[in-house]
Formats: sequence, structure tokens, C-alpha cells
Amino acid sequence: MVDAEFQGRVALVTGGSRGIGRAICERLASGGARIAINYQHNEDAAFATLGAINAAGSEAIMVQANVAEPDQVTAMVEQTERDLGTIDLLVTSAGIAKAEPPDQLDYASFKQIMSVNVDGTYLPLVSVTKGMRARRFGRIVCIASIAALRPRPAQAAYGASKAAVIAFARNLSEDLAPEVRINSIAPGLIETDMIQEMAPSQRQAMIDATPMKRLGRAEEIAELAAFLLSERSSFTTGQCYIASGGRVTLP
Ligand SMILES: NC(=O)c1ccc[n+]([C@@H]2O[C@H](COP(=O)([O-])OP(=O)(O)OC[C@H]3O[C@@H](n4cnc5c(N)ncnc54)[C@H](OP(=O)(O)O)[C@@H]3O)[C@@H](O)[C@H]2O)c1
Repeated sequence: MVDAEFQGRVALVTGGSRGIGRAICERLASGGARIAINYQHNEDAAFATLGAINAAGSEAIMVQANVAEPDQVTAMVEQTERDLGTIDLLVTSAGIAKAEPPDQLDYASFKQIMSVNVDGTYLPLVSVTKGMRARRFGRIVCIASIAALRPRPAQAAYGASKAAVIAFARNLSEDLAPEVRINSIAPGLIETDMIQEMAPSQRQAMIDATPMKRLGRAEEIAELAAFLLSERSSFTTGQCYIASGGRVTLP
């Protein structure tokens, strides 16, 4: 265990089975939190995350749910609270990305992206924030993307969905303050399963356009999430933090 800043806390991480979500699960567990690892289909990956957390001496459970389905999200939160206790820390990392060239825009695909990325952020948020407010404690991080902040080819629906995630966090921050803090993170290109279908030339072009000249690592996003969930960021809410190797900067 690295430290104890999350000792006694219960964390629910959507999309915790793989990629950025998995790295966040492991980072919070290393700080002493007990973790609910959400996944949708990939039970083996969730089991691998669970094994890594247990091997490091921490406690976790797996919670299967499609974050875009209200009944499944309710059941996920109930299972977490039954098995681990009330939720102190929520991370919404479950998400999907799809390239949609302008001549292939498809309404079914648009609705799927919106459903997983937007409904899949909204539903866990509304399921946990009532309890957090009643207990007068909660820390939330929503994973957005720099696609919300700058144009990228064939990513109109994805970018719009992530802009909604940032807006949720920003607007909810006023309603939830002061006891509950909520922030979002907009990562640049991170080496996970999500980007494996990207053409090598496109990947290289994005690296070339990044001042730090490399992809990000899931662990780097996890470290930022841990900071925002900890008391080290105690005067911070409603913000969007960009972690993109300098590819996107605010004025
Ligand atoms: N990688 C990047 O370059 C990048 C950049 C910016 C933002 N992001 C955002 O970061 C987040 C994590 O991305 P990643 O790269 O870690 O992706 P990833 O490696 O593809 O993992 C996606 C995770 O989301 C889960 N998931 C997908 N749809 C779900 C659903 N309907 N219900 C529940 N879980 C679902 C998957 O569960 P299963 O394992 O069961 O499939 C998996 O745990 C996403 O929101 C993504 O948009 C990623």
C-alpha cells in the first residue's frame, strides 16, 4: 500500500475493468480505498483488475452493469453499498469512442455514443449524489476527453458526448457544494484498448502534434484522478483538468 489517504473510503469506478478505469481502481486501492470495479462484458478483465488489487493487499468487488441502463445502474450502486458500504468516491470512466467520417454519420451510432458516454455518466451521478449530500461527503471525477475541447476528424458525436460530461460536472458542482466536490478530466491520447484500432499513421500524427511527443499512460490519468479525489485538492470543484501532453491548453 502506497499511502492511506483513502483509508476507510469506498470507491465505485465505472469502466474499472480496463484502461484508465483499471489504473484508477488500482491507484485508489493503493491509497486504502475499497473498490467496486464496474464492467459491462469483459468479466476476465474485471477479474484481472480484482486480482491485481487483492495481490496488493486491498479489498475490491466486481459489479457488472451497463451504465446506460437505469435499472442496472441502480442495482450496481445497491450491490456496492451492500457489499462495501456507502459510496464516498465515484469515478465515471466507462465510455466508448467511434470514428464517424462526415459521409457516414449514422443516427443509431450517434445515439449509442450518447447513451454510453452521457447517460452512462448521468445515471451513476444521480444514483450516488443524493446519499453523498445526506452524508455531507463525496468526491467525484468524470472522465471526459480533449475531443470536447478541440476538433478532431470523425469525432463529432464523441466530442459532443464528452462536452456534455464536462458540462455536467461544471453545473452540478454548484448544486453539490460545499460537501461534495466534482471535477472532470480531459485526457489526450492514452495507450489503452480504446485506441488500438487507430491507423498507425493517425497515431503518429497525433504524437507529432503533442508537445511532449508521446502517448499518455493510464497511470498518469489515475494519478490526476487520485489528486482530485483527495483532500490535496480541497478547494477545487467544477473544473476540467486537461492531461494531454500539451496538445490542448487553455488560454
Ligand atoms: N484512451 C484514450 O485515448 C482516451 C482519451 C480521452 C478520453 N478517454 C476516455 O476515458 C475513458 C476510459 O477509456 P479507456 O481508454 O480506458 O477505454 P477502454 O480501455 O476501451 O475501456 C473501456 C471501459 O469502459 C467499459 N464500458 C464500456 N461501455 C460500457 C457500458 N455501457 N457499461 C459499463 N462499462 C462500459 C469497459 O468495460 P468492459 O471491459 O466490460 O468492456 C471498459 O472497462 C472513456 O470514457 C474514454 O472516452 C480515453
